[in-house]
Order: sequence, then structure tokens, then C-alpha cells
Amino acid sequence: MDRSKIEAFLETFVRFAADATTIALLAIADRNGLNVWMAEHGGGTVEQIAEGTGLDRRYLTELLSGLAAAGVLEHSDGVFTLPPEHAVVVADETSPYFMGGWLDMLPAGMVQIDAITEATRKGGGVAFKDFGPPMIRGLDRGNAPSQRVLLTRRWLPAVEGLVDRLTTGIRIADVGCGTGTAVAVIAAEFGASDVYGYDTSEDSLAIARERSSHLGNVHFVNAGVEELPVEPPFDLVTSFDVIHDLVDPPAGLRRIREALSDDGVYLMMEPAASSNLDENLHPHGALLYGVSLLHCMTQSLAEGGLGLGAAWGRQRAETMALEAGFSSFEPVEPISNAFATFYLLKP
Ligand SMILES: C[S@@+](CC[C@H](N)C(=O)[O-])C[C@H]1O[C@@H](n2cnc3c(N)ncnc32)[C@H](O)[C@@H]1O
Repeated sequence: MDRSKIEAFLETFVRFAADATTIALLAIADRNGLNVWMAEHGGGTVEQIAEGTGLDRRYLTELLSGLAAAGVLEHSDGVFTLPPEHAVVVADETSPYFMGGWLDMLPAGMVQIDAITEATRKGGGVAFKDFGPPMIRGLDRGNAPSQRVLLTRRWLPAVEGLVDRLTTGIRIADVGCGTGTAVAVIAAEFGASDVYGYDTSEDSLAIARERSSHLGNVHFVNAGVEELPVEPPFDLVTSFDVIHDLVDPPAGLRRIREALSDDGVYLMMEPAASSNLDENLHPHGALLYGVSLLHCMTQSLAEGGLGLGAAWGRQRAETMALEAGFSSFEPVEPISNAFATFYLLKP
């Protein structure tokens, strides 16, 4: 055995363990409002932060020290600060850089480790509903910030002619709409259009309906994408991180194809990945396979589904889309990034 390789891997393992505990510390800080307080006040000594937040001094000392050691906070002469560049990632839900959703999703997935361990032996999985409200909150906080900022400003304008059609008034379906942010954002911007949100999670839809009750052009329906009405057809269908979660993704794609008007378009956002494992061997890939096992793949397998997984990747998406009857499948490069790839599909 190569001793230096053991030592290098020990260091790597320490990083894994430290990263996991950092997510835990950040989640505790997030739930206690500490990240937002630090963003608003810049920082302070333990005493000043305890005074401002009302948190216990001893816990706070450990928490702030851990976050400083991890590089989340800066520390000098007893003063802890949250740099504004870090604040947009951990504290500012209005920023498209906000990553706070992971602070709900990862713990909600970790809670199911015993059940997933058993499923790994026996098959099956953990149903979407069994991940409970923390996962719904995480999914909501995961995509909503970028949808609020970028959907109408950058994503929809990237599709030629779409904004004009939305302004004139068309029929839109967001499938797997979750807590409905995309539906509400499109409906608020394009009052002449009718926006339908479809989802199978009543708990998510209840939040969506409450948040959108002031909008007259939104309609939330508790139905799967497989039940999408085909008549009258939709001019635009969108999905954000949904297809890989489905029990039967080919059937879902076929139904979207059938439900589109002849000149309709389908904008699909999926995690950025290759279908070739060798191209996913990096931290983004590790995160995708991890969250897939802790949630995406597992909740599909729980229902006897295909369990595509979050890292199913571009090549498989194209093959499946063409098999579902779409005539064209194009990545929309200008709006894709390290986390998500957008695809434009036409009937
Ligand atoms: C990862 S979440 C994404 C939610 C939302 N699009 C967003 O951007 O936050 C996937 C969503 O797909 C929904 N879903 C799963 N299977 C579905 C199906 N067959 N039809 C419609 N929605 C489904 C889940 O309930 C969940 O809300």
C-alpha cells in the first residue's frame, strides 16, 4: 500500500466530515435567523451577536467558531463577520445565488438514512410525502430565488418570440409546479396569459394556492403530468427539476408532447450533468448523485418508478425526448449554468 495515498485520503475524509458538519452548523444558524442577522449587521463579537439575536452565548461561540474555521465567516480580534459575498449565498432569499434550500433538503434527506439503507437491500424507497414539510421547504427555497429573479428577465426571453406571445396571452402549464413560484411569477408578469400549475403533492399545492390567491390568472391542479389535458392545447409547458423525479418519465414527456399546440414550446430545466459518469466526477456530480440517493431517485423508486436520478444527463434527456415524439431538442446555452441546463423542445 502507498502510505502517502492513505494520508492524502485521510485529509480528504476530514474535508468530507468537515463539510457535512458545516452544512449542519449552517442549518442551525439558518433556522435560528443567525445568517440573516449577520447579513444585516455585518457581524460582531460573541457578546454583541448574542445580545442582538437572543441566542445562547455558549452555543453561539461554538457555532461562530465552527463557521469561521470552515471559511463561512471571517474572524479577527474576537469579531466575526459575514462577508457580503457569502451573505448572498446563505442569507439573502432574494438573490439568485441563494443556496439556503440545501440547508433544508440535505438534513431532510439524511433523516431517511435508515429507510434508504433498507431500500438499498430490499428495493423500494421513501415516498415523496414521507420526506415531509422540511423537504418541501427545501425544494421551495432551492429554486424559488432564481425563478423570482431570472425567469421573466432572462429565461423566457431566451426563447425567440416567447415574450411577445406571453404578452398577447397564451395558455401555459408548469408541470411539477411544487409551491408554485414559477406559476406566480409568470402570471404576475403576463396578466393576459393563463397559467396552470400541476403537481401531485397536495401539501405543496396548498402553499402555492395561498401565495397566489391575489392573482386571477393562476390555476393549481392536483394532477400528474401524465394527466395533463390535451384539449385545448398549451402554448408553453415548463418544468423545473421535475422529469428526473417522475415515476414514468417517458410517459410524462409523451403527454407534454401531446398537450402542446403545433407551434407550442416546452422549456425543461434539469440538473446540469452528463449521462456519462466519467464527465460527472467532480463536486457538482458528487452533490447530484448524493441528493439523488437521498431524495430524487429514491422517491421515484418508492412508487415502483424508473428512478432516473438527478444526474441522468443531457444525452439521455435528448434520446427520451425524441422517442417521446418531439422533433427538436436544443440546450439553451446562454441561460444554462453549472447547476442547471435548460432544454427547448418543439413538437
Ligand atoms: C424537485 S421538485 C420541483 C418543484 C418545482 N418545480 C420547483 O422548481 O421548485 C419536483 C416536483 O415534482 C412533483 N411531481 C412528482 N411526480 C409528479 C407527477 N407525476 N406529476 C406532476 N408533478 C409531480 C413533486 O411533487 C415535486 O413538487
